[in-house]
Amino acid sequence: MALYSEKVMDHFTHPRNVGVIEDASGVGEVGNAKCGDIMKIYLKIENDIIEDVKFETFGCGSAIASSSMATEMIKGKSIYEAMELTNKAVAEALDGLPAHKLHCSVLAEEAIKNALTDYFEKNHIPYDAAKLACQHSHDE
Ligand code: FES
Repeated sequence: MALYSEKVMDHFTHPRNVGVIEDASGVGEVGNAKCGDIMKIYLKIENDIIEDVKFETFGCGSAIASSSMATEMIKGKSIYEAMELTNKAVAEALDGLPAHKLHCSVLAEEAIKNALTDYFEKNHIPYDAAKLACQHSHDE
């Protein structure tokens, strides 16, 4: 069996939503101290809807595929739906990641949550910090 699903390979070789949003409503950046990989997510939010999302990832193929899939999953959704996105859902949407690569999808969940936190704080919108704490699974 191939180590990576076709979806992972597709999102790795043709990542969606790569880039920067200059006037982003919220920006989130996270890094994984162990592997040194970094992910940055930009959100453009209007009326609580994520109108646009872009990412920059300096990292492994699984991190690139995870960010690409995660951006697709939250584009056009409300910020409250985006808050519910877990790394598990991202990995499932990619038809799975190898166990030792699950942590790469965690970066996507954390970066989105950081960008949402940035948006809430910039706009003085009260938010449930517990919901924006990373819910990722540690079954690596
Ligand atoms: Fe670092 Fe994948 S090995 S994010």
